[in-house]
Amino acid sequence: MKIELLTIFPEMFSSFLDASIIGRARANRLIDVHATDIRPFSVSKHKNTDDYPFGGGAGMLMMPQPIADAMRAVAPEPFHGKRIYMSPRGKTLTQEMAQQLAKEENLVILCGHYEGVDQRVLDKYIDMEVSIGDYVLTGGETAAMVLIDCVSRLVPGVLGSSESAADESFSSAGLLEYPQYTRPRVFEDMEVPDVLLNGDHKKINQWRREQSLLITAKLRPDLLAAAPVTEKERAWLAEQMEQVQP
Ligand code: ADE
Repeated sequence: MKIELLTIFPEMFSSFLDASIIGRARANRLIDVHATDIRPFSVSKHKNTDDYPFGGGAGMLMMPQPIADAMRAVAPEPFHGKRIYMSPRGKTLTQEMAQQLAKEENLVILCGHYEGVDQRVLDKYIDMEVSIGDYVLTGGETAAMVLIDCVSRLVPGVLGSSESAADESFSSAGLLEYPQYTRPRVFEDMEVPDVLLNGDHKKINQWRREQSLLITAKLRPDLLAAAPVTEKERAWLAEQMEQVQP
């Protein structure tokens, strides 16, 4: 997968792209991520990238010309992939959206600043707007890192087998992950649950499933409705919840 970033702050991406799993995936050529500075594309005398909005109002807008020229340079036609604008008004990023995007050959991600981007450049060069949540960031760069992170780890080969993406929150199971423990067995007077120490994998799996159900019911009851949970499990869960809060 090839990812092209269009930004006025390409330096923000350097440590993110070099570290950890994303750094390793790039080194192994599983993903190719490149940040392009929009500013040099500006034809204005001082290489401006922003201007006042027509009609007045607070703040500045990103000018269409530098973005359109940068876009044509990194994504010449015919373009196969998705051109994304990071924006709080976009469709909210979900694991399902990440799974769809992970199948694309190319992603171009435009990071906005100031009060936004001239609408015409969005109309002509953007396929989808993506938000990472209902809050406003100072710019699209941190949102783009979130998107790149969660899409990249779904690209085949990016995660090692010990980091498998299959059995975790928001994946196919639709439930939150069960609690996990490592050594020591007793930490600050808190013990690891006995069931995890006896090597009975049937019991361990059952305990983990129950913990997933309980933690999802407690923290994200909205997820439970759509999750693949059996009638028997729902009945068990209802009983447990009654005991907790009669
Ligand atoms: N730019 C500013 N806020 C954003 C958000 N919540 N998601 C994506 N891009 C943004």
